[in-house]
Amino acid sequence: MITRNFFLFLSQNKFVKAKATKWGPKLGAKSVIAGETIDEAMETVRQLNEQGLSGTVDHLGEFVYSRDEAIESADFCIRTLDAIAEAKVDCNLSLKLTQLGLDVDRNLCRDNMVRILETAEKYDNFVRIDMEDYSHLDATLELLHELRQRFDRVGTAIQGYLYRAEKDIRQLEGVNLRLIKGAYKESPEVAYQKQEEVDRNYLNIIKSHMLNGSYAAVATHDHRIIDEVKAFAKEHNITKDKFEFQMLYGFRSELQTEIAKEGYKMRVYIPFGEDWYGYFMRRLAERPQNVTFALRGLLSK
Ligand code: FDA
Repeated sequence: MITRNFFLFLSQNKFVKAKATKWGPKLGAKSVIAGETIDEAMETVRQLNEQGLSGTVDHLGEFVYSRDEAIESADFCIRTLDAIAEAKVDCNLSLKLTQLGLDVDRNLCRDNMVRILETAEKYDNFVRIDMEDYSHLDATLELLHELRQRFDRVGTAIQGYLYRAEKDIRQLEGVNLRLIKGAYKESPEVAYQKQEEVDRNYLNIIKSHMLNGSYAAVATHDHRIIDEVKAFAKEHNITKDKFEFQMLYGFRSELQTEIAKEGYKMRVYIPFGEDWYGYFMRRLAERPQNVTFALRGLLSK
């Protein structure tokens, strides 16, 4: 039986990654990744905008080991913001701090973020810092607090599986937060392991953040959570401009357009780039049903 842990292991395995990269399109990665170039990503955003969906693009690439790579990655983010402005599409930017050198040199990472946020400010755009595994949480929040002294147009993501999520939310009042269940394998010392417990804590942090008047980006494919959030907003007179829903590109597309037609803001997270492997494996880990089509493609090679 293929398990979540198996895919999380593969997501970090460099040997398998090297072998698998050439199988990417066959594995089914194409249906959840919007091409390799900025132009391809912009074309996807344009098509989604036509269906009433907003976008957030993420240039895939999680492992950065040198200063040069981190600077290059920041330059790429800046070019992406330029392209969004030029294409006049409804889209913001998501990124990972490790891509910008968080593990190499924190000052470098901060300088990279400053350059990116100055560009976002110029275009009135917004930058979302994805949340990575627990070992990067404190550094991410510290940097966010520092950046928010100079910039408004930046937020992050908080993972509902963490015991400390509620406390973190309280310290982030007024910040535009993406709220998620959490995608990494974390230990029972820091995170709920049972699905019901994760769901309960997840809903609690969504409600807390919405109730204190902060903007909430509820990022889930779970229709039960979505329905509960809609009902909660109605009950507490929280208007539709105070929150949005988010889903990943290629997942529950019909539900995405349905939600947009109901008048809610629905934003699609659109990954693109050559370094699709880790992202794809984490998606398989979350929903092993997806592996059937992936393996079929692989075995028929
Ligand atoms: P979950 O996987 O718990 O599924 C709950 C139920 O929803 C299922 O039982 C099923 O009924 C239904 N369902 C789910 N997927 C379905 C599908 N494809 N088709 C049909 N039914 C389906 N994580 C992280 O750690 N850091 C981050 O920065 C982000 N960023 C992020 C952005 C966006 C836009 C999204 C949507 C998600 C993330 N994540 C993330 C990932 C997130 O933490 C989480 O791992 C996944 O979204 C999976 O959890 P769900 O809440 O979607 O539902």
